[in-house]
Amino acid sequence: MDYVESNKEFWDAHFANTSLDYPNEDVIRFLAKCKKIYENGVMLDWGCATGRHTVLGCKFGFQVYAADYVERCVKLTEEKVKRECTEFKGKVVEYIVNQDTDIEKIKDASLDVILAWGVAFYNTAEQQQEMLNNMYRMLKQGGRAFCDFRTERDSIYLNQKEKPAEEGFFVESDIASVKGCYMNILPFEKLQEMFKKSGFEVESVELSEFTEGNQTRQNSWWHVTLLKK
Ligand SMILES: C[S@@+](CC[C@H](N)C(=O)[O-])C[C@H]1O[C@@H](n2cnc3c(N)ncnc32)[C@H](O)[C@@H]1O
Repeated sequence: MDYVESNKEFWDAHFANTSLDYPNEDVIRFLAKCKKIYENGVMLDWGCATGRHTVLGCKFGFQVYAADYVERCVKLTEEKVKRECTEFKGKVVEYIVNQDTDIEKIKDASLDVILAWGVAFYNTAEQQQEMLNNMYRMLKQGGRAFCDFRTERDSIYLNQKEKPAEEGFFVESDIASVKGCYMNILPFEKLQEMFKKSGFEVESVELSEFTEGNQTRQNSWWHVTLLKK
């Protein structure tokens, strides 16, 4: 089984028992900023999982596409939106189960905002590049993408014994309940090369670090805003 199929199975089983319900604070900030820039903006929540940021997009008034390559996730997102988005200006325009690294249903230059939160680094380096290329393809000129990538200072990476460069690995330790999941944590220089190759201008990169489990685990993330000029 390839990495994609094994990760699809992983996320399907994972979200049978778990739900991510509270939005990430930096995503709130990003969408709040975008709300002011793009009037009646069109947004994609790629890798929507259980829909916490799809709901947030609706709350901020966006027309939202919610996509994930796991059917269960798209269904869970739809159910959450039905329950929670009864009085918001924004709405979901389409729920999509995408294939691997593209969302063919979404036309070129049709989106203002793409959120790919906690998503890209669960794919191979080549697939991450394809996802970035397609994000660029789907955005209108002046559109922005907000993505995050775990860094090499993250406990998941530090605790991993086998981690051949740029090949990715199946997570060995049960940090953040992702044991057995395929992940590819790339060096920052490689990420920058990929952003450039896809055509994006890097608007900002912030380092977000915090501990969990009474300081037993270090979370370390790049929070990246990409602009299609
Ligand atoms: C950690 S969860 C992220 C959750 C969600 N974005 C959030 O912030 O709540 C990872 C999600 O990304 C999805 N995913 C990973 N790679 C994907 C791809 N290439 N296309 C679509 N979905 C993908 C998985 O199915 C899973 O639902």
